[in-house]
Amino acid sequence: MRVYAAPMEGVTGYIWRNAHRAVFPGTDRYFTPFVVATYTRSFKHKEKEDVSPAHNQGADLVPQILANKADEFLWAASYMADLGYREVNLNLGCPVPMVARKGKGSGFLKDPDALDAFLEEVFEGLEASDSLRGLGLSLKTRTGVEDSSEAEDLYRVYRRYPLSELIIHPRTARMLYKGLPDLSSYASFFEGDKPFPVCYNGDIWGREDADFVGRAFPGTDALMTGRGMLRNPGLTRELKGGQPMTLPELRCFHDLVFQGYREVLPGPMVCVSRMKELWTHMGSLFPGSGKKVKAIYKAKSLPEYEAAVRILFGTGTLEPSSRLRLSGAPGATGNPY
Ligand SMILES: Cc1cc2nc3c(=O)[nH]c(=O)nc-3n(C[C@H](O)[C@H](O)[C@H](O)COP(=O)(O)O)c2cc1C
Repeated sequence: MRVYAAPMEGVTGYIWRNAHRAVFPGTDRYFTPFVVATYTRSFKHKEKEDVSPAHNQGADLVPQILANKADEFLWAASYMADLGYREVNLNLGCPVPMVARKGKGSGFLKDPDALDAFLEEVFEGLEASDSLRGLGLSLKTRTGVEDSSEAEDLYRVYRRYPLSELIIHPRTARMLYKGLPDLSSYASFFEGDKPFPVCYNGDIWGREDADFVGRAFPGTDALMTGRGMLRNPGLTRELKGGQPMTLPELRCFHDLVFQGYREVLPGPMVCVSRMKELWTHMGSLFPGSGKKVKAIYKAKSLPEYEAAVRILFGTGTLEPSSRLRLSGAPGATGNPY
C-alpha cells in the first residue's frame, strides 16, 4: 500500500519534509500545507518558499490549494504548473472557523451544488488551457459538515469528474479531530463504481491500523497519515513491514529539523517554539519519560532547550509502536466489503 504524508499547516513545511525524506525514505508522496488562492493573485512569501522547486528537489510533492472560486483556483494551479508540478490538490477539509466561515475548506462541503459548479468550471479551465491540460487534480475531503450522511451527495458530485485521486478523511467538520473516524461513511464510497484511486486518511497510528484498513476496504489505494507520522516519523517503514524507528534515527531527524529552522527562522526562541510544537506530537514516544519531555516544553532559552533534548535522548526509552484504535471505530465491524 502506498503511504502519503498528510499536509499539516505549521509543521510539515519543506524543512520537516526534507528532514523526513533524508532520515526516513520510503514515504510515497508528500502534500504541502494549504496555500491560499485569493483575488490578489499572489501567494505569501512563506507559501512561495514552501512550493519552490529549489526547496523540494527530488520530492514527490503535491501542492495543496485552498480556494472556492474557480478563477482563483485556476490561477493558483497555473502557478504550480509553471513550477513543474504535475498535480494539485484541493482542500475540502479544513474545519478552522476562519476558513470554513468563508465557504472554503470544509465550509465548501455545505453546498454540494456550488462545489459541483466549481469543479465543472475548473475542469473546463484545465482542459481549455494548453499549459494546464494534463495537470492532475486530487481532492482531500471530509465526509460532511454536520453529519456523515452528507457524504453520499458529495461522492455523487466527485464521481462526475476525472479526479487523479480522492483522499477521504471520514470525519465531519464538526468533529474537528476528535473521536474516531466514521468508517461507514468511508465504506459507502465503495458502494458505487470507483472511477479514480482512493486514499484513506484518519487515525493511522500503527501497523495494525493500516492492515485493518487494507483488509476492511480493499479498494483503498493509499493511506495518508498526519498526526501518526508527526508522532512517529518512522511510521511509513513500520506500515510497510519494516523495523520500528530507533532513537539515533529520531535524534538525527530532530537535529535536521532544528538546524533547518535555525537557518531560516528569525531568532532562536522562534525555533524553540516550533520545535516544542513538534514535541507535542513526538513526546508520547517516550511514555516513561514524562518529566524529561516536560522539561523540553518548559525550556525558556536555547541552552535550556538543547540540554532538555540531550537528557531525553541520552536516557529516555523510545516506544514508537502504538495500539490499534481504528478497529474500534464506528462502522468498523459493519463493513461488508
Ligand atoms: C495542526 C494541523 C494542521 C493541519 N493542516 C492541514 C492542511 O494544511 N491541509 C489539510 O488538508 N489538512 C490539514 N490537517 C488535517 C490533516 O492533514 C489530516 O487530515 C488529519 O490530521 C487527520 O489525519 P490523522 O488522523 O492521520 O492526523 C491538519 C491537521 C492538524 C492537526
